[in-house]
Amino acid sequence: MAPNAIATNLSSDSLPMPKDLSSLFVPTMRGPIKSAFKSVMGNPTLAMINMAGGVPHPNTFPILQLQATVKAPTSASAAQSESMLLLDKTRRSQTTESLDELLQYGDGCGADSYCNFLYRHTQRVHNPQYADWGVIASCGNTDSIGKAVALFCQPGDSILVERWTFPGTLSSLRAAGVAPVSVALDSEGMIPEDLDRACHEWSGNTPPRAVYLVPTGQNPTGATMSLVRRKAIYAVAQKHNLAIIEDDPYYFLQLPEFVATSATATAIGVDEPTTTTASSSASVRSRPQSLVPSLLSMDIDGRVIRLDSFSKILAPNLRCGWITAPRYILDKIQILNETTTLQPSGVSQGLISKMLNDVWGMDGWNAHLQELRSVYTRRRNIFIQMVEKHLAGHVEYSVPMAGMFVWMRINFGAAAADKTAMPRLLDAMKKCGVMMAPGMPFSSNGPSPSDHYLRAAFALVDVDMFEPALVRLAQAITGISGRAPTASNDAVKAPLIIPTSTGVAAVNSSS
Ligand SMILES: Cc1ncc(COP(=O)(O)O)c(C=O)c1O
Repeated sequence: MAPNAIATNLSSDSLPMPKDLSSLFVPTMRGPIKSAFKSVMGNPTLAMINMAGGVPHPNTFPILQLQATVKAPTSASAAQSESMLLLDKTRRSQTTESLDELLQYGDGCGADSYCNFLYRHTQRVHNPQYADWGVIASCGNTDSIGKAVALFCQPGDSILVERWTFPGTLSSLRAAGVAPVSVALDSEGMIPEDLDRACHEWSGNTPPRAVYLVPTGQNPTGATMSLVRRKAIYAVAQKHNLAIIEDDPYYFLQLPEFVATSATATAIGVDEPTTTTASSSASVRSRPQSLVPSLLSMDIDGRVIRLDSFSKILAPNLRCGWITAPRYILDKIQILNETTTLQPSGVSQGLISKMLNDVWGMDGWNAHLQELRSVYTRRRNIFIQMVEKHLAGHVEYSVPMAGMFVWMRINFGAAAADKTAMPRLLDAMKKCGVMMAPGMPFSSNGPSPSDHYLRAAFALVDVDMFEPALVRLAQAITGISGRAPTASNDAVKAPLIIPTSTGVAAVNSSS
């Protein structure tokens, strides 16, 4: 297999080189560490008889062909609704490697065709403002977070994070012996003044080196940073010379303003994109909203390590994503990849590469991303409408402008000071058959009994389950707060979901 390389921009003479942030690296990452892969495999030329690596001969690979049927990128293009893609054992296509190449050991960068597509995508969407940036394949953002953090923090160090954040990151920090330092956030994400304050009041072993944040459809709060907010955060990072770890799996799920969606649309259990149905919801009329620029796109110093994932925009267990950063930073991540995953599965990379390069193309990919926004817009709108109908007075929340989460602060009324209110609510929810995530695992500040938060995800369940779920939640809250139930909650019968051996069955609560 041809040696892979980080996909980089070679023709960016007019752009400045990134600042050298290598002094922020942990000591073990600073030196000129060599790729173990290269030291064993070398850089063989075709003229060499290469007997360097412990590499099996592809003749022993039993998979001769992989075939997949993929849908058209949008339901609007239903005329050619499905396409076949084929990965052949020995034959490369114009863009994508053969199966033998994909299934062979590769270095810590990823398959060339996969990375080249993502390089072009990143150039088009984020257009980085410095020279010598690149992309490298990742096994998704959970993996990338650990690696990005490992560049800047070692056991005993601290890192700046949002007050509420992705539990996977908190677990990864805990395992690495790195302490999270909480920075306040509001409905627009991390607050720059508080980031500045946290840097000034820093008491860590070493000066602050990195901030980790989720700028779009934040998990768990659903917050999305405005352009102004992003610029202000970037300016604070410049002031304190911080690397920014931009974890952005929900970037392409940015949504237009909330618009009430018709009741008939509520009854439809399938995800019909709002833009393709001419008749029903008011959100059909919303013009496609442009995407808020990423932190990467305003990065003139090369201080952003941007983590992208296919999990929310293709499928989670492909376990594929990509990292964008200055090339000298990617060189370090390559080393970390070579001590862990090497690269994502060649099968996953090959399928994605073939689908995006050869079947959908860049236009189809963009159309797919646009359609996803439409699907999530409809779900968000219906969910918010149900929250307004059934939880008025019971919760405070902001309408999310991206992603799949609504973050609700529960109003327990007279029981607000009761430390058992939240555990009792979770228990009551369990008994009446509805599950949402409590705030506690998302807290970067340690658990507190007065954190009365729930995170509801509107991505998975059928939209006609939104109403019964929220009626049940309202009933559970009412049982603890002692407030009178609202008429709308009385009126709706919330079916109980009874697990059966073959799946689930919905039966009316009165039966
Ligand atoms: C903010 C955030 N980062 C990372 C991940 C994990 O992404 P991946 O599936 O790419 O590992 C999630 C998944 O929920 C997430 O919400």
